Amino acid sequence: MVIFGVTGDLARKKLLPAIYDLANRGLLPGGFTLIGYGRREWDKADFQDYVREAILNGARTQFHENVWQRLAEGLEFVRGNFDDDAAFDDLAAACKRSDEHRGTAGNWAYYLSVPPEFFAEVVHQLDRCGMAKAGANEWRRVIIEKPFGHDLASAKKLNDVVGAVFPERSVFRIDHYLGKETVQNILALRFSNQMFEPVWNSHYIDHVQITMAEDIGLGGRASYYDGIGAARDVIQNHLIQLLALVAMEEPTSFSPAQLRAEKLKVLRATSAVGPFGKTTARGQYTAGWQGSKKVVGLREEDGFDPESTTETYAACTLQIESRRWAGVPFYLRTGKRLGRRVTEIALVFKRPPYQPFSKGQADLLTNNAVVIRVQPDEGVLMRFGSKVPGPGMELRDVNMDFSYSEAFTEQSPEAYERLILDALLDESSLFPTNSEVERSWEILDPVLDYWAEQGRPDDYAAGTWGPASADRMLAKDGRVWRRP
Ligand code: BG6
Repeated sequence: MVIFGVTGDLARKKLLPAIYDLANRGLLPGGFTLIGYGRREWDKADFQDYVREAILNGARTQFHENVWQRLAEGLEFVRGNFDDDAAFDDLAAACKRSDEHRGTAGNWAYYLSVPPEFFAEVVHQLDRCGMAKAGANEWRRVIIEKPFGHDLASAKKLNDVVGAVFPERSVFRIDHYLGKETVQNILALRFSNQMFEPVWNSHYIDHVQITMAEDIGLGGRASYYDGIGAARDVIQNHLIQLLALVAMEEPTSFSPAQLRAEKLKVLRATSAVGPFGKTTARGQYTAGWQGSKKVVGLREEDGFDPESTTETYAACTLQIESRRWAGVPFYLRTGKRLGRRVTEIALVFKRPPYQPFSKGQADLLTNNAVVIRVQPDEGVLMRFGSKVPGPGMELRDVNMDFSYSEAFTEQSPEAYERLILDALLDESSLFPTNSEVERSWEILDPVLDYWAEQGRPDDYAAGTWGPASADRMLAKDGRVWRRP
């Protein structure tokens, strides 16, 4: 595997530790070779030190000197820029050497952990120096990190650039949410059980809330985030993928083609509901308290434009035009510097058509709900009403809770571990296709276009749950956001 952008945050924090964890679990072949490509003046030993440090800081499994030694033998570093023909020739030579000396057999994966403006150059170089074409019984694959463009038009351009060199079946687009155990469990929950399917539709479900909240701010991420914002960063990919998994029909099998066909079908029926002034909300955090720590607002964060209009909170209302979901709004929201870190999908049920309880007995009951807790405290929760013990009939909400940490002793692998392994094994189910990516932009673009004409996003204080406009957005439908 060749990693471009190996000195970046993602490689250091996620990719290199995930590769070690795979090696530690015995899931990488003996000859696995990792070539870092970058601008640093490093030799093999410097690169080894860097990778070791990243592993010690980020690996989930225990550090074993012998596993590390085996991995370290297969580490190489090639120095160069993306416009440097000679350096790419060196890279091609390094890959061929590893075929001869380590038995990698012409099976090369390229991980593009670089900003999208460099995709074209890297892909072109791979093509130029003969690294894109595989010989008989060999394979070449390219693994691409988001963002895949900033709207439909730019995504199409990017896809054209990549598609001109690599066939679609060799392109693995990372949406790391699909690598999460709890996200794959949506399929298990829905399609291996009998009790959920009969109620998984508009007859029983009132609405669905998909939330990805983070407590962290954006200090240090200005170059990526300023001008991008929460909707492009998270809704276009992670949240729309979650919606697809929750709302899709049962695939005839879990083969990549069947699974993706069902996801694409539901996305084709999905659109943003207007008028966007009422059905969406957008905010930017200002100074506030994150727990006991005083934190600055976005416009005071290092590197951000003091006039930045980038949203750090985004919410929108989507609808799915199908027999199953007609009339059930899907509310999606995400934000930075919110009350706490939580990702969850809540299916909120309708009220029973008739309540035989007298006034005062059931007033505290809220709607039943099934909540898929993606992270943290991974699990699934069901909320329903129950009688408070005692002589009277008083009802209250209670929770029935499945928690991974209680039910299983196995630790969930990190999302990147699963995805890197799948890409190496040519198992593409957990990677969105070109068509899914483009369709997701088609869904979101009208909202983004509307926002672009509206000036500044609303303010919300760090540590709160977003701008007041987000609460109004649900209140107008007589609903409230869950406080997870
Ligand atoms: C990334 C976004 O895709 O997901 C980040 O670019 C975000 O802004 C991150 O912080 C969150 O990932 P996770 O796995 O911690 O929920």
